Amino acid sequence: MTENIETMRWLGDERGHLVLIDQTRLPQELVEIECRDVESVWEAIKQLRVRGAPAIGIAAAYGVVLGTSTATGGTREQFARRLGEVIDYLAGSRPTAVNLFWALERMQTKARSLADNSPAALRRALLAEARGIHEEDRSLCRAIGRYGAELLTDGSGVLTHCNAGGLATAEYGTALSVFFTCQDQGKRLHVYVDETRPLLQGARLTAWELAQRKLPATLICDNMAGQVMREGKVQAVVVGADRITANGDTANKIGTYSVAVLAAAHQIPFYVAAPTTTFDLSLDSGNLIPIEQRSREEITHGFGRQTAPEGIDVYNPAFDVTPARLIRAIITERGIIDPVNRENIAQVVGGT
Ligand code: MRU
Repeated sequence: MTENIETMRWLGDERGHLVLIDQTRLPQELVEIECRDVESVWEAIKQLRVRGAPAIGIAAAYGVVLGTSTATGGTREQFARRLGEVIDYLAGSRPTAVNLFWALERMQTKARSLADNSPAALRRALLAEARGIHEEDRSLCRAIGRYGAELLTDGSGVLTHCNAGGLATAEYGTALSVFFTCQDQGKRLHVYVDETRPLLQGARLTAWELAQRKLPATLICDNMAGQVMREGKVQAVVVGADRITANGDTANKIGTYSVAVLAAAHQIPFYVAAPTTTFDLSLDSGNLIPIEQRSREEITHGFGRQTAPEGIDVYNPAFDVTPARLIRAIITERGIIDPVNRENIAQVVGGT
């Protein structure tokens, strides 16, 4: 990310609004949009104007503040009812990234703990909580970068899928934080960027972020990863995550699973970088993760051009699940989970 452009920012006090980078317009244009009501936050999440698990959670937290603006003149009960409606509404925007539900739950818990306060005071407290979630994510990302950088050696080729960078978080990212930290430490890396069909988060966003930071990078189509590995160009894979279950199974952008299988076939370590806010210990395994299904047009009419015949059947899951056995280690802000198993996950994540 450039120094002065943030993924999102809240402007003003509790009467203020959310400003976020419209990621659908990158890399051609760096444009910000203003969200002044909860509907525009919902739309921004749904349309991937703001995307990436941690960023979705942060935006939703601010969305709660916006959605309760009209409820401050009423009673505490009316405020609580409106808060519940807003939270349910935002929870329906996208199903896979658990950070969304984690952030909404945290906002609800905050409100319950202050239930005796006036609606106006409650809403101020909710803005402070959203700002807290936002601020904490910055330090989580930095810590992930520091732990992850220990795993990579100078001169390595590394591959990543989708965008787990500053745009997907408060700043710096998770997988990309590892690369940026290496760069800050003077370790030379060369990043292979999967373009990430069908919405090209790799080509549009990761390639853009790496170019901003002048980190050497090569863009490849998703189906080239095997050949690039076979040619010995990749010494490690680092990806982000949308939800990690109690056994370590990891949902991430569609195509991640294929990369993990390829990495295993070439004995290349496959790392997941994610904050503890991305773990869902209530789910026993990845089979239980809800996988978002998106529209057929994303595949048949990607970026405005028809590339498939009319009427062809289409399947478009936005995420897949990589089984824990294919993950060499999970890099969190609390340390590295290695090996990836229930016990280690419970120890690092469970002991909040
Ligand atoms: O559909 P997206 O663009 O929201 O998917 C994003 C990803 O899959 C990321 O890899 C994940 O959210 C981690 S972001 C730090």
